Amino acid sequence: MKPNNRELGTCYYPEHWPEDLWQTDAEQMINLGLKWVRIGEFSWSRLEPKENEFSFEWLDRAIETLGQAGLSIILGTPTATPPTWVIKKYPDMLALDADGRPRGFGSRRHYCFSHEGYRNQCSEIVRNLAERYGSNPYIQAWQTDNEYGCHDTTISYSSSALKSFQNWLAKIYGNDVNKLNEEWGNVFWSMEYQGYDEIPLPNLTVTEPNPAHALAFRRFTSSQVTTFNRIQTQIIREYSSAPIIHNFMGRITDFDHFDVGEDLDIASWDSYPLGFLLDRAGATETEKNNFLRQGDPDFQAFHHDLYRAVCGGRWWVMEQQPGPVNWAPYNPEPLPGMVRLWTWEAFAHGAETVSYFRWRQVPFAQEQMHSGLLQPDSAPAPGYFEARQVKAELDASPQISNGLSEVAIYFDYDADAAWNVQPMGEGLNYFQLIMDHYRTFRRLGLNVDFVHKNTKDFSGYKLISVVGAIHISSDLISRISKAMATLVFGPRTGARVGNMQIPKNLPPQINLVKSRILRVETLPSNVSLEIDPVGRAGRYIETIKLDNNASPYLKLKNGQVIATKEESGIIYLASMIDQEGLTAFYQKLFKEIKLDFLLMPDGIRRRSTENEEFWFNYNNKVVQTKIGEMKPADIIRLSRV
Ligand code: GAL
Repeated sequence: MKPNNRELGTCYYPEHWPEDLWQTDAEQMINLGLKWVRIGEFSWSRLEPKENEFSFEWLDRAIETLGQAGLSIILGTPTATPPTWVIKKYPDMLALDADGRPRGFGSRRHYCFSHEGYRNQCSEIVRNLAERYGSNPYIQAWQTDNEYGCHDTTISYSSSALKSFQNWLAKIYGNDVNKLNEEWGNVFWSMEYQGYDEIPLPNLTVTEPNPAHALAFRRFTSSQVTTFNRIQTQIIREYSSAPIIHNFMGRITDFDHFDVGEDLDIASWDSYPLGFLLDRAGATETEKNNFLRQGDPDFQAFHHDLYRAVCGGRWWVMEQQPGPVNWAPYNPEPLPGMVRLWTWEAFAHGAETVSYFRWRQVPFAQEQMHSGLLQPDSAPAPGYFEARQVKAELDASPQISNGLSEVAIYFDYDADAAWNVQPMGEGLNYFQLIMDHYRTFRRLGLNVDFVHKNTKDFSGYKLISVVGAIHISSDLISRISKAMATLVFGPRTGARVGNMQIPKNLPPQINLVKSRILRVETLPSNVSLEIDPVGRAGRYIETIKLDNNASPYLKLKNGQVIATKEESGIIYLASMIDQEGLTAFYQKLFKEIKLDFLLMPDGIRRRSTENEEFWFNYNNKVVQTKIGEMKPADIIRLSRV
C-alpha cells in the first residue's frame, strides 16, 4: 500500500524548555508518528536580545536535534512579537485603537502594519533567519508572522497609517482630489477636501463617518497586510525554495486573505472548535449547550473549505486544539473522540497536514491553562492518545483523495468590509449570511467549494451562490455566468457601485437581473415574517419590483415576493432566511436542476472524497442514520469505489 498522503505535526517552543528535554521530546514526537514540528514564531527576544546582537546558536542546536530525530521543521518568523528594544527604538510603531490609544507592550501583535521603521526591522530579522537557515535541509517550510488580524489587530489609527492612507488615496485618485470628493459624495455635510493631506482617518468622528471613507480605509488596511506579508515572502524566497505558509485564524475577515494567499504556497488556519463555538460562531444558547464539547458542526468545515481556496488547493491546519483552550468565555474539555474527529474531518476536506497546538502545556505566562498533547509534567494528556489513534488509522487507511463539489459559494472579503461599514442593523454581517447558506448546503449533505475574485475557472459547478456580494463587478459576473451553473444572487448582491453609492437605476447593479430593489428594511432578530410554505424571513429584507419577464420564486405568507426567477434564469433572493426556509428553498431548486442531495440528521455531517464518504457525528448522543447507528464523536467511512 502507498504511504498515506496526510501528515501530523505539532507546535513546539524549544525556548520554553531546558535544552536537555529537546532530544526526548523529538524522539517522543517521532514515536507518536508526527512528521512536522513548527518552531520559532515568537522567539525574537531570544534570537536578537538587543539590536544587531544575534544569538542563533540555541536555534541551530534545536533545529539539529529535531531534524536529526527525523522531524521536518516549519520555521516561523517572529514578527508578531517585537521585543522591548524594538519599541524603545520606535515608540510610535505600536498600533492605535479606534479611540486613539496605543496597543501596549506585554502580550503580542502590538505593531502597526504601516510603520516603515517596523517593516525594516522585520526585514532585518527575516533576512537573518532566511540567510542562516534557507538551505538547511531540515527546514521544509516557513511560516510568516502569526495569525494576521488576531486580537483585532489589522486596523490601526496611527500617524503612520494616516500618512500611508493619504498617499494610497492620492495614488488611486491622482492629482485632482475632487474626483475623490465626487465619488465619496463629500458635498454631504460639507466634507469636501481641498487636498489629500486634509483627509483624516475615519475614527473619532462625532457620528458615523462617510461609509465611502470607512470602506476606503478598510481596503487600504487590507493592502497593508498584503504588503507586510509580501516583504517577508520575497526575502525568504531569495534564500529558500521551501514552501511558505501563513497560519490564518477563524472568522477573521478584516483583510483580504485571497490577496495574501497570492504570495504563499500553502494556506493554513488555526482550528479551535470549542473556543470558536463560544466566542465567534454566532451560536444560540441552545447550540452552545448542545455542542459545548464538540464545536459547531459547520464552523471548522467552513474554514477548511475557505482555506482550500486561498492558495488554489494546498492547505493545512497549522494549529489544532488538542484539549481545553484558555481564552474562550468557558473552556470545556472536548468530548472523548473529538480531537480524532476534528483531525479526520480536516483530512476529509483535503488538509495535507494537521498540526496540534501545542506539544506540552507550558507552566508559565498567559497560556499556562492551555492544554497540549502532553501535560506540564510531560505525561500524555488525553489528546495525545487520540493523535496516536489517528496515526494508526492513517497508516491503515487508503490514500485520501480530494473531493469534488457541485455547489460553490462566492466569498468576498471586500463585501465583508462593506457590510461592516454599513450593516443597516445590529449584528448584521456578511460572514453570517454566507455561513447560513453554507450550513444549508451541509445540512443537505453536499460538498462545498469557495470561489472568489481570483478564481480562474468557475466551470464544473451546478450551482453557484453569490449572495451578499455588494460590489461585484460586471466583469466578474460575466466570468461566473460562463460557468453555465444556476446562479443565486441577493440579498444585497450588486447593491452598491464601487464606493458605496446606490446605483443610478436602483440595485442590483447586475445586468442579468432586471427586477429592482426599491427599498430595504432590517428587523431585530426576534421579529420575523412567515414564508409560504415554511420557514421565516427576517433581519434584512428587500422590497422587489418584479420585472415583467421575471416570475416570483418565493413569497411570504402575506404575499410579498422575496425571491424572483429572472428571464436570464438567475434566482434573486431578497432576504435573509432561517435554516428551515433556506433548506426548503434549496431543496426545491436542487430538484429543479437535478442536483442530488440528502437531508442529514441534526449534527451529522458528511464529506465525500473521490473514493470515500466520511460521516461525522457532532452530537453528544447516539443518532440513527441511514448508514447505521452513530455514537457520539463517531466517524463512519464508506468506500465509493
Ligand atoms: C492561536 C495562536 C497560538 C496560541 C493559540 C492558543 O491563536 O496562534 O499562538 O495562542 O491560539 O489557543
